[in-house]
Amino acid sequence: MSLASPSKAGALWKGKEKATDDAYDDLTPVITYRHILSQSLGVKDPLRVVALCDSDAFYAACEQVRLGLDPNVPMVVQQWEALIAVNYPARKFGISRMDRVKDAKKRCPELIAVHVATYKEGQKEPGYWDDVDSHTHKVSLDYYRRESMKIINMFKENLPGGEIEKASIDEAFIDFTRPVREKILERYPYLAEVPHDAPNGIDSPLPPPPPISWNAIGFLVPVTPSESAGNEGEELLRGEDDDSTTWHDVALSIAAELMDQIRKEVHTKLGYTTSAGISRNKFLAKLCASYKKPNSQSILRNTAIPNYLRPLPFQKIRFLGGKLGDALAKEYDVSTVGDLLTISLEEMQRKFGENSIWVYELLRGIDRSEVKEKSAMFKSMLASKNLPKPITNPSEGHHWLRVLAAELALRLKDSREASPNLWPKTIVLHARKGYETARSKQASFPFVRDITVDVISAIADKLWKEVTGDAKSVYVTNVQLAFTNIEATEAGQQSIEGFFRSKGSIHQILKRNHEEGDSTEGQSLGSGSKPRSKSSDPPNDDSSVSFVCGRCGKRVVLPDKGEQSDEDGGAEARQAGVLAVLRMEHDDFHFAQDLAKSSGADISSSKGSSPSRATKRRKKQVEPKGIAKFFRKK
Ligand code: CTP
Ligand code: CA
Ligand code: CA
Repeated sequence: MSLASPSKAGALWKGKEKATDDAYDDLTPVITYRHILSQSLGVKDPLRVVALCDSDAFYAACEQVRLGLDPNVPMVVQQWEALIAVNYPARKFGISRMDRVKDAKKRCPELIAVHVATYKEGQKEPGYWDDVDSHTHKVSLDYYRRESMKIINMFKENLPGGEIEKASIDEAFIDFTRPVREKILERYPYLAEVPHDAPNGIDSPLPPPPPISWNAIGFLVPVTPSESAGNEGEELLRGEDDDSTTWHDVALSIAAELMDQIRKEVHTKLGYTTSAGISRNKFLAKLCASYKKPNSQSILRNTAIPNYLRPLPFQKIRFLGGKLGDALAKEYDVSTVGDLLTISLEEMQRKFGENSIWVYELLRGIDRSEVKEKSAMFKSMLASKNLPKPITNPSEGHHWLRVLAAELALRLKDSREASPNLWPKTIVLHARKGYETARSKQASFPFVRDITVDVISAIADKLWKEVTGDAKSVYVTNVQLAFTNIEATEAGQQSIEGFFRSKGSIHQILKRNHEEGDSTEGQSLGSGSKPRSKSSDPPNDDSSVSFVCGRCGKRVVLPDKGEQSDEDGGAEARQAGVLAVLRMEHDDFHFAQDLAKSSGADISSSKGSSPSRATKRRKKQVEPKGIAKFFRKK
């Protein structure tokens, strides 16, 4: 097997000492029948193939698709006066994300600048308005999120059985190992039978692999980068080193074919060009995805890894960009991956702890992290606004809370399209003053059928009141509203819907659960599993059919136990769900009382004889909408 020869590697070597020759040993495993015939070797599979696919100039591409613009026209997406995405034709003019719109237009007068969609109070959906202003509007990335989901779904449709992990708004990892193994066995059926004369049975090495035609399936990262490595240089390098071809290369080439088909499909059906990196693990796939951009894919063979990694400034590697990278650079006075290869594992672990084995391996092209689809339920959903003009009068909070509520409502609705049972259990409000720790309040989120802007913003208003207290003036520079503990409530959801059906119109049930005192951001966001304190059951009662309210001490009992028949074996879950609804309904009663009291108190407790303007405004806004109208029925 030809790793880069020592002399070639030496030319790139900048370290103080020579690295041991076996630093990249792991890259040349002997591939046996057992490997090709096993189904689940996981991250140790020597035939493992992973791709990272990233959309080109993504936000710009989204707007170009939406507006039906010619992709060759220079175009940018702006947020207020700053650029957030620049398409490739505009990049040719030297325009980058760092530029202001004004300067970009100086460089390219015909530049098309599209403003990102924004939320505007009073509008349920974000839109493209003429009067965008950071003082009143909030940026919306919802459209990009949706387009992103379309792309991911197209990956999934085209790769049944392949694991796909969304890694950011415009990129995803794809594990091609399984589909590629199937294809190999299909194309080379002789691999399916261990030959009778194989010396070690199933642990015998596979016969030599077939030659590979790398042309037209992507750019190969060269095994021996030359000084003149321009496009032509690389063309020449295609198909080189055929003597070193391995079965892993065959796997890479098949993954590249599949990736290419998927990328073409995304382009023709959705209009997006993408760039992909294909290699033996996530770390390397991501690293080589930007080797050639846009609209192309790059393949990093095992044999090309050492020379690709060695000259790399290690602080450019995602995980080594921060403190750890700084510490390594300082400790050893070095800058490249190659420099760090001389440090033994023991030495590294002594100085940087046990876990630094992970860095040690990364430098050697080893990454054992899995490509794993994140669960459909998102743990939290955050809407945040930095306020160009701080809120000083507490009454100004409502405007922003409604805008943030609109975003949460829409995002939940979107997510429910993929997983209809998503249910936010908690809602959290953060208000931040400058760089100080945010003041936070949270409440249990009610089981309401329609999670509307009204419902969300009414609860947010209430939390806001708790955060701001009696203060006549505040200074808030950032406000955030979040759903946390978002869960897919399978059984609970069914029982609740069933309950709604059988009991007819229970009003939208609103329940809240006070958290006493202020909580810091970390505490409140991290306290998802806190019990619903105020209405928890005493230990020795039959808590499956009743509960005792912590506020009024009343025992509330499930109305008709016999009604919950066990048709599908889910009786217990259903019962628990119904009890939860009852509990919330009861808490809701207290909530309504509190709300009535507090809005009354607002008026009566205001110091002067006439209510303040702010109070009047608040009363006017809250009363006719959402929560208030719903409570009056109680
Ligand atoms: N983005 C952003 N701010 C950043 C980085 C990224 O708003 N600091 C947005 C960009 O607008 C971009 C999207 O996130 O469209 C994806 O980012 P990235 O993949 O880094 O850049 P692209 O614009 O897609 O360009 P490229 O073709 O280089 O991937
Ligand atoms: Ca991108
Ligand atoms: Ca990206």
